[in-house]
Amino acid sequence: MTALAVGIIGLGSYLPSRIVTNDDLAQRLDTSDEWIRTRTGIRERHYAAPEEATSDLALAAARRALDDAGLAATDVDVVIVATTTPDHPVPATAPLVAAALGLRCTAFDVNAACSGFVYGLQVGSALAAGGATVLLIGAETLTRYVDHDDRAIAVLFGDGAGAVVLRADADARIGPFDLGSDGSELEILWMRAGAAREPFDPVRHADASSRMAMRGGDVYRHAVARMTASSQAVLEAAGARIEDVDLVVGHQANRRILEAVAQRLGVPDGRSHLTVDRHGNTSAASIPLALADAREQGRLRSGDRLLLTAFGGGLTWGSCLLTWTGPVPGSDG
Ligand code: UT7
Repeated sequence: MTALAVGIIGLGSYLPSRIVTNDDLAQRLDTSDEWIRTRTGIRERHYAAPEEATSDLALAAARRALDDAGLAATDVDVVIVATTTPDHPVPATAPLVAAALGLRCTAFDVNAACSGFVYGLQVGSALAAGGATVLLIGAETLTRYVDHDDRAIAVLFGDGAGAVVLRADADARIGPFDLGSDGSELEILWMRAGAAREPFDPVRHADASSRMAMRGGDVYRHAVARMTASSQAVLEAAGARIEDVDLVVGHQANRRILEAVAQRLGVPDGRSHLTVDRHGNTSAASIPLALADAREQGRLRSGDRLLLTAFGGGLTWGSCLLTWTGPVPGSDG
């Protein structure tokens, strides 16, 4: 798909108020702030409150994105929630968010694990190019799915949500995209039980089989290789060089992965945005959260060219280029 004349006209994010530091985790797990920071770059992450589910986080980010766009909920035609941690196995989370906004519009989820936001952006941009106003939200409550006694997993994940509003705009560009998957490698990052293949059974699944499981080293290697190749594919499709990119916003799983990707792509120093230190891995929420953070820090200027790149369970991966035309602090919009 070539670039579409679609812009992000609103951006919003929501992080639950409870912050869990590495030292907090080290009080009950055999780990340390030093190990977590060195291996992952993570210092702290946010945990949803017991009464908060994915749709609550999504709704808070969505309201902020709509305010940012200067739109009312009734202006929205399509709600897409990118999530791998829905409120319920059935139904999808997007209709719940739409209903909370007072909408009865098209609403569906995209589950591509940590690549979900980039997948949702391709689907949402295509709908926006056709005339729809699209609310795309990446929202996750992964801390509900991790085994909090497994130090190799528990330290990595956090909760949060980020949302964008997409609309056709002759001056804006989203794309090209490069998306892919390899379902033959599902076990390197998955939750085995709890759905159709192996419905949850309280006796059989008293162990951790209905929790996230990961072969960290394999995920690491795939993530670096796939995010690099996929980024190169979109640069090539666009006839662009990495020097033409003002800011790389990658899925925030691990600082070392993002640095390795940046190094292989030849990203100039200081042009990769990092939030993993403060957010941990928030899966499909990490890229829109990082976009909002970059804007707050004054790192998004009108006309900037961004490269988004992600990798996650599935396996799935995806990258795209976009030109930032959304509101920036201090602008009239
Ligand atoms: O969104 C995609 C999802 N996930 C990812 O992107 C994660 C990708 N993978 C990674 O980020 C890294 O593989 C990890 C951070 C998960 C692990 O880092 P690593 O450098 O690959 O460590 P390792 O798995 O090779 O483990 C090294 C050691 C092991 O001990 P032994 O066997 O050498 O004695 C682990 O048991 O570190 C141990 N370890 C820990 N030690 C302290 C694992 N987790 C911890 C921990 N604290 N939290």
